[in-house]
Amino acid sequence: MKILVNCALPYASGPLHLGHIAGAYLGADIFVRFQRMAGNEVLFVSGSDEYGTPITIRADKEGKSPKEIADFYHNDHLNTFRSLDINFDIFSRTTEEIHSETVSEFFLELLRKGYLVERSMIAPYCPGCGRFMPDRYITGTCPNCGYKDARGDQCDECGKTLDAKDLINPICSICGDVPEFRETNHFFLRLDLLQDRLLQWIDAKRDWRSNVVNFTRNFISSGLRERPITRDIEWGVRIPLEGYDHKRIYVWFEALIGYLSAAKLYFRGTPNPDEWKAYWQDGEVPSYYFMGKDNIEFHTIIWPAMLMGKEGLNLPSRVIANEYLRFRGEKFSKSRGIGFSVDDILKLAQKDYVRYYMASNLPEGGDTNFSMEELVDRVNTEYIDKFGNFINRIVSFSAAHFQEISVNSDYDEDDRSMMDFAKEKFLAWKSALSDAQIKKGLQEWLDLVKYANSYFNRSKPWALIKSDGEGCMRKLYVSLGVAKILADMIYPYTPSSSMMIRRMLGLPGIEPSAREENIFSVQSFRPVKGEPPFRKLDVTAANPNSMDLVVGKVLEVSDHPNADTLYLIRVSFGDSETGIVSGLRDHYDKEQLSGRKIIVVRNLKKARIRGQDSNGMLLAADNGRVVKVLTVPEGVPEGSRVTIGGYPYNGKGTISIDEVHAYSMAAECSSGACRVEASIDGKKGYLEVMGDYVYVSEKVENGSEVR
Ligand code: 2FM
Ligand code: ZN
Repeated sequence: MKILVNCALPYASGPLHLGHIAGAYLGADIFVRFQRMAGNEVLFVSGSDEYGTPITIRADKEGKSPKEIADFYHNDHLNTFRSLDINFDIFSRTTEEIHSETVSEFFLELLRKGYLVERSMIAPYCPGCGRFMPDRYITGTCPNCGYKDARGDQCDECGKTLDAKDLINPICSICGDVPEFRETNHFFLRLDLLQDRLLQWIDAKRDWRSNVVNFTRNFISSGLRERPITRDIEWGVRIPLEGYDHKRIYVWFEALIGYLSAAKLYFRGTPNPDEWKAYWQDGEVPSYYFMGKDNIEFHTIIWPAMLMGKEGLNLPSRVIANEYLRFRGEKFSKSRGIGFSVDDILKLAQKDYVRYYMASNLPEGGDTNFSMEELVDRVNTEYIDKFGNFINRIVSFSAAHFQEISVNSDYDEDDRSMMDFAKEKFLAWKSALSDAQIKKGLQEWLDLVKYANSYFNRSKPWALIKSDGEGCMRKLYVSLGVAKILADMIYPYTPSSSMMIRRMLGLPGIEPSAREENIFSVQSFRPVKGEPPFRKLDVTAANPNSMDLVVGKVLEVSDHPNADTLYLIRVSFGDSETGIVSGLRDHYDKEQLSGRKIIVVRNLKKARIRGQDSNGMLLAADNGRVVKVLTVPEGVPEGSRVTIGGYPYNGKGTISIDEVHAYSMAAECSSGACRVEASIDGKKGYLEVMGDYVYVSEKVENGSEVR
């Protein structure tokens, strides 16, 4: 059977972090690998979403053209996916010509059928910038949840789609001016005409996850209005009509068509360029869409509406949206240094360990948290201790005692229960993955790993080998058979390790199949003795930075009630706060500290200092006489993470004051201002933040200690 799998097109406006991977791409890749094992012919599609304001914003900031930004991040995305073994058949670009052609066809067809109409509307115009501003450029308070930094198109906190003119206290995020709201002409998609059909359609989706269905049903029931699908901007797909030179098609409208244009592009230049039709027009071919939850409405309302209007193309058969992966409760953000980018994490752990942990922690039913400690723990105790050791023990024992292992005596009851359990788990795994329940599939595998370990331990082949050679070989045969099933079941999750284990088992290095009726089909094994398959993770060895250094903002300073050299300082990290006891009272007035950006060691062990709680420590340069706090360049927001010599915090947990001192941080004043140097991993490295340095707030004696 053919299957189309589409995965949300990431904006080519910044690097991908683990939040993106968990939201859409890893689950989709696992699903696709499974479908191929099951014998299906899959077309796996994604691409870069290269228009839209996020790219324009970045280009403006960096003094580059949008195209340069898009080129850079398109390649960056390709590398990221490659580095994690996420293999699309095509990872296209919305700047491809075939894309704008396909968009034009769509546009004209919808216009002809009356699903697009031209109307005049009110849009934000920034007097400071001298142009209409896309909603996204306008920020203000969300009228729905009160979040202060909501964008005019959507609130990142509550996820609601917004209209810039509904924001409370709107400002232009480029120049800070207050926008005016002016009249302009645009094309509108008549969602109102399709409301009933959409509702009927979603109501029939009984097997979809409830987060998607409920969200969509509520959304439609509250009434669909026409939506503008063009904008007064220059960077975007052109409107295929005369007289609209300064307007473009809105990025969401055209990006969705990217799934279709990518499929066309994939088959163009092959012997059968029309083959895309098999995936888009044959009603029997299912289409799956993977994305993060902030994309639901576009895939369950806008896109189906566009397809209903256009006619002749398949509607989504299944829309699968994950919730968010968070880092200490916050959304991942590369620019604010929250969490890990894919590059960061791959410096610390190999790709299959990352895939394994992420898959076990996918936000399928609700938000989940990423933690480095948990990653290390699960990889070491589950993947390596239970799975890797099991494989290693049977392979080395088998290879030491036998050339070839086949079955030559009747199975006993325990063998049968092992084999029955393996079949049961294999089938449960298969049904979970067929339903895109990625975490559940992994759990079935882990259950089987545990049972296999206990079977092997009970069987004691090392004792049997002396008394009952045939029985010993039979136990090994069953264990090897289970090992093969385990290697196959883990293939979608950790493909390259799975192939390595197949080779250890003496099996051909081809992608496994999940089709056989008889899962114990291998007649004989010739295992290959070698090194243990996995090496345990030691995060400190990979990344020696155990100090969680964060930019804080002083909210309030008060005197310590019981110590006249100490202050009590409240510090904000943006989304959280802490209280610190600090010895700055002889060196700073309260007013000098209030409102300042400072650097805090946030994971210092809690302490009680003269009867007051202190949670973290504030860093300052100190030569015994002069004490000056550290600070950051203008524009670096509170909550930003500080790296040392390029190392982000390794997530290890709390540290002691002696451990902080072991970094021997000191002021380095060669260049007018004083940067901060630390010793890490036997080398020297600077404290850096958002592509710049951490500085001492005033010039101090070179070499002053920072503590
Ligand atoms: O949220 C995003 O990253 C969007 N670029 C997703 C677009 S999905 C589809 F429209 F292609
Ligand atoms: Zn402006």
